[in-house]
Amino acid sequence: MTDRPILTTTAGSPVPDNQNTLTAGPRGGVMLQDYQLLEKLAHQNRERIPERVVHAKGWGAFGTLTITGDISRYTKAKCLQPGASTPMLARFSTVAGELGAADHERDVRGFALKFYTEEGNWDLVGNNTPVFFVRDPYKFPDFIHTQKRHPKTNMRSATAMWDFWSLSPESLHQVTILMSDRGLPQTPMNMNGYGSHTYSLWNDAGERYWVKFHFKTQQGHTHFTNAEGETIIGKTREGYQEALFGGIERGEFPRWKVQVQVMTEAQANATSFNPFDLTKVWPHGEFPPIDIGVMELNRNAENYFAEIEQAAFSPSNIVPGIGHSPDKMLQARVFSYADAHRYRLGTHYEHIPVNQPKCPVHHYHRDGQMNSYGGIATGNPDAYYEPNSVNGPVEQPSAKEPPLKIDGEMGRYDHRDGNDDYSQPRALFNLFDPEQKARLFSNIGAAMGGVPGHIVERQLAHFKMIHEDYEAGVRAALENQHGYKVDTISATPTAAE
Ligand code: NDP
Ligand code: HEM
Repeated sequence: MTDRPILTTTAGSPVPDNQNTLTAGPRGGVMLQDYQLLEKLAHQNRERIPERVVHAKGWGAFGTLTITGDISRYTKAKCLQPGASTPMLARFSTVAGELGAADHERDVRGFALKFYTEEGNWDLVGNNTPVFFVRDPYKFPDFIHTQKRHPKTNMRSATAMWDFWSLSPESLHQVTILMSDRGLPQTPMNMNGYGSHTYSLWNDAGERYWVKFHFKTQQGHTHFTNAEGETIIGKTREGYQEALFGGIERGEFPRWKVQVQVMTEAQANATSFNPFDLTKVWPHGEFPPIDIGVMELNRNAENYFAEIEQAAFSPSNIVPGIGHSPDKMLQARVFSYADAHRYRLGTHYEHIPVNQPKCPVHHYHRDGQMNSYGGIATGNPDAYYEPNSVNGPVEQPSAKEPPLKIDGEMGRYDHRDGNDDYSQPRALFNLFDPEQKARLFSNIGAAMGGVPGHIVERQLAHFKMIHEDYEAGVRAALENQHGYKVDTISATPTAAE
């Protein structure tokens, strides 16, 4: 006799033998009625689910958001009131690599947060950069195609990337950050996070404020060079998982200072830039960051697949007191993520434990595959429609956002018209010291190897618009690394390599 649990079928019946297939005689063949064999093989075939279409490789942990500052005059959100403490989940990721990609690759890092507030889940799905490559959602799938594999070669294509970027000058700001030191953080703990988009806060008086969220690492903002990253990948492809998981196991709990920048609706009408343009930051000088609290990660997942791979973040998840903004990219994301989850995880992805709100949930959605709500999520079997006179759940008017005045004629407005794509990257370039600039040039040179000359020249012309030194530095790096020269005779520039 043993006190170990009895192995059962998924239907709960004891399994008599988990070692030997049921056969006709010791030499076989196998009997079709060995259902457990069929069950084991069938389950194994279904162990993988589609990886995320972007941000497939990730690392996550649980923790707490604690509010120490006072922004109650801007927002009624309970999780942002002084003293509030909210359990949360963070998932960090690279954008382009697949599920098995190496962690220490140069790429933007995802910084996705889910706050389990008493008023529902609030997801802030940002990056480790305050801006993005494109400002119109029409361009997101095209951009991502250039980051993923070429359909014929099945390899990533530097030509596609730089072709797209050189034809999309709004990408210059993010490309400069990606190619700077910040493009390769040492670990997830050593990077900042940014909500990136402009969101809104609103208070009980119905006043709205525009807001940017910032998460400043307290572990040191530290980065690796390309060469250091390559050395690490030569030893381990899981460096971020080792650092984050291992650190938390050892009781080293990483922390981020949480800040907001706030802009009034009147100020938003007066800025020299569009405050809803995702390729722009709000200058700190004009909109100083305000400290509002601390985010700490202090618990690893018990099961990576269940809690990190199945985590479903969505910018559509907001709570009363927090809202979206007119940013076109954000509005597209409000649709895209929940749609991705229904495809990748299933209709009832919100009922997977890691995605479940930690407050009562009542809605009138019905049925569907994998429904584990007990059939009806109103808690009342007669309340399966609304309005009703059977005491079913009712709306809460106090959760209604204040009205936002919008105007303008419907049309497709050229997002490049009159847009200054150079000043903010220039402000950034001017922040870099000579060594940082040298690494920027070298990183771009390395990333441009093999790109046809006409694309290289188009990109260099943009760098020149930022700063003459930027163009000259990248051109010199291309010459040194690849023997690049402009073919002036044929007037068709070529890249040697
Ligand atoms: P400030 O001089 O007031 O702000 C400079 C900010 O730039 C810093 O606080 C830091 O942001 C960030 N920064 C410093 N060094 C680097 C670096 N090597 N790589 C990337 N970012 C760096 O000027 P502005 O607010 O006018 O910003 C100037 C430029 O700085 C912007 O054009 C933008 O490219 C960049 N930046 C600005 C941010 C903002 O919210 N205003 C945020 C991040 C970058 P942090 O404290 O967030 O690390
Ligand atoms: C993941 C779409 C822009 C940050 C994803 C996913 C989709 C998507 C479909 C996969 C979701 C999943 O399967 O779980 C889009 C679209 C965008 C956009 C349509 C623009 C129109 C952005 C921007 C940011 C961002 C601007 C950051 C500021 C992330 C992060 C993840 C992600 C962090 C991974 C979330 C996780 O850890 O599960 N995006 N995205 N995306 N995106 Fe975006």
